This record gives sequence, C-alpha cells and structure tokens, in this order.
Amino acid sequence: MKAFEGHIPDKLPGIPTSIFAVMTQLATRHQAVNMAQGFPDFPVSPELIGLVDKYMKEGRNQYAPMPGVPELRRAIASKVMAAYEVAYDWESEITVTAGATQAIFTAITAFVRDGDQVIVLEPAYDSYAPAVRLCGGTVRFVRMQHPAYTIDWDEVQRNVTRDTRMIIVNSPHNPSGAVFTMEDMLRLQRIVAGTDILVISDEVYEHLIYDGLAHESACQYPELAKRALIMGSFGKTFHATGWKTGYCLAPEELMHRFRMVHQFVVFCSNTAVQYAIAEFLEDERNYLGLPDFYQAKRDLFLDLLKDSRFRASPASGTYFQLLDYSAISDLPEEEFARWLTTEHGIAAIPCSAFYQRAVDNGVLRFCFAKTEETLRKAASILCRI
Ligand SMILES: Cc1ncc(COP(=O)(O)O)c(C=O)c1O
Repeated sequence: MKAFEGHIPDKLPGIPTSIFAVMTQLATRHQAVNMAQGFPDFPVSPELIGLVDKYMKEGRNQYAPMPGVPELRRAIASKVMAAYEVAYDWESEITVTAGATQAIFTAITAFVRDGDQVIVLEPAYDSYAPAVRLCGGTVRFVRMQHPAYTIDWDEVQRNVTRDTRMIIVNSPHNPSGAVFTMEDMLRLQRIVAGTDILVISDEVYEHLIYDGLAHESACQYPELAKRALIMGSFGKTFHATGWKTGYCLAPEELMHRFRMVHQFVVFCSNTAVQYAIAEFLEDERNYLGLPDFYQAKRDLFLDLLKDSRFRASPASGTYFQLLDYSAISDLPEEEFARWLTTEHGIAAIPCSAFYQRAVDNGVLRFCFAKTEETLRKAASILCRI
C-alpha cells in the first residue's frame, strides 16, 4: 500500500500503543502465563451459551431496538431494585450498550464540550481521559493515595472549577482492587450537591466484592443518583468479556441526551446475547455467587504466594490483585514487568500504565480470574523469584 502523504494533526497526541497490547504480545511470544489482561480463562456458563444459541436459532439476529430489548431492560431494572432498592424506569432510564467502554464513551461525548474539565481519579481505566480529550475537554487528575488507594476528597474539591462538567469514579476499582466506603460516597455527594456537575460511576465490578463488603452504588445516594450515569458490564459479570454487552442507568433527562449519541455510535448491541442475558438474569444465583467464587481464587493466589518475596494487601474487589515487588528489585514497573515476562514466563501489567505521568510504586497488577491450574502455575513461578 502506498503511504498517505497528507498531514493530519494527531487527535490523541502522545498516546503510545496500549500496554495491554504490548504485554499480551510479549506474553504470547514468550509463552508466558498471561495474568496481564483482565479476562477470565475459564468457560462461560454452558447454560448461557445455550440461551444465545437458542435465540440465534429462533431468528433473533437482526437489529435490536436502539435502547436494548425490553426483556433485558426489565431484567436490569429488577436486578437494580433487588440489589439497591432503587427504581429505574426500564423504558426511559436504562440503555443496553456494546460493553461499558461504549457506554462511557457515549456519556462523555453526550455531555463534554470544548473547554470543559473532567476530574478523573488515578490510577484509572485507560478509556476515560482519551474520550474526554476527543471531545475537546481537559482532564484534571487527582491521585489516589498509595498503598491503600484512598481518596483525598479535599483535593478533589480543590480541583472543582467553574468549568467542571463531570467527575468520573470507579468502584470496585481497577487496577487497585480498592472499594469505596459509604463515607467516600457521602464526600462525593457533598462535592457535587447544588452544582451542575455530572458523575460517571463506573460500577462494572459491582458483583466482584469480597470479605463481606457491600457495593456502594451511586444510585443509592439521591444527590448522586440524580446526576449519575452508572455503567454496568455483563462481560465482567458473566465471564464473557468478548461479548461486549453492558448498560447505562441514568435519570430520564440525562438518558435522553445519552441516547441521542448512542444511536449514532452503535445504534444497538448484539440482539441474541441481549435476549439470552435477560433470561439468564431471571435466576439471581447466576450472579449472587460471584463474590464467593472470586474470593476463593484471590485467597488461593495469595495463600500460594505467602512464602514469596512479593507483598500484597488483599484486593477488596475486582479480579485484580496488586503485588509489591520492592523487596525483589528497584527496576521501574514497566521494565520489571517485561523482565518477568521474558525471563520468567509470567505477564502482569505495571500499575504505572494507569497513570497519566508514570508513577513508580513498585507494584504490578495480576488478574486472578483464572483457573486453579493457572493460579498454581503462576504462583510457583512467582515463588522462585
Ligand atoms: C474499570 C473498567 N471499566 C470499564 C471496563 C470495560 O468494560 P467492557 O468490557 O464492558 O467494555 C473495564 C474493563 O476492563 C474496566 O476495568
């Protein structure tokens, strides 16, 4: 192919190839145990696969309604009511999306304009800031405090200006595994009350929460709920990240604006998967058992590592565990992660990849959504380092 010779200014200057792609490529080349990217290596429920098959064979293969099939929106409304005792109207306040990433992009595009500021707590999931920039907004990063990844809400308050359009929060938190407390939610609520600031509450790991903790959803806090776009992901909940099916909850006025953009970003998401998930959600056991299921994996992984030189505070949520390697090496995180992959055959993500400007705390993120066999293999490598 001949090279394009024109000059088009970069819309996302300075963004390197994603570290996830880099580490996955490196892991494949070195046949490493891949604990880098956040996806399960065990199968999706055969019952759920059977339901997708059933609906495809029934002919549910054409475009779904733009906001999602009614069956799934009703099922999401019931799930939210059962979990948080909050009513969202399935017709006007719930939209099914092609994963939470699309929902986040759509929400940012719907509300952020040139010159707007958006507060992002970092380390952060990597899609937030580029989406804000593509809309002409600027990001103000507020750092969570290592090693417990707590939030200095006074600093958040200090970063609020006349131009703040939105604050993006994420609990349970990727990559730290930290979980918001009721006090966090109340502090956030106090900051936004009486302002025009919207909140994106990324709650994709709502069902992955451990040690008896309860998920604090933005929908439970009235001053947050009325300005919140809450994101969910069935990819996370049903170990099917490749199906890219998620949803957004928001009050009607905000949801109307969200849908104005959603219809042009994707219009609708996968029809058969939507019907299948709607039916699968009828049995609450299909997701209420997740904390025990994943906590057992976290505990096994940490137990296997107890004699290693890695240090860890157990993740309170998500399927990510941070390991501190400062007793082993003073290499920067990215270099240490590469060394671990090439020399020892195990891949993880440097936590610094989740910051705007690399921060080196000597911690890597390991995904423990893996079979027992993978966890044992990983731990036996890590124990030898
Ligand atoms: C915090 C967070 N938000 C959103 C997503 C994306 O979810 P989905 O796969 O449904 O787009 C992820 C996936 O890694 C995530 O970690």
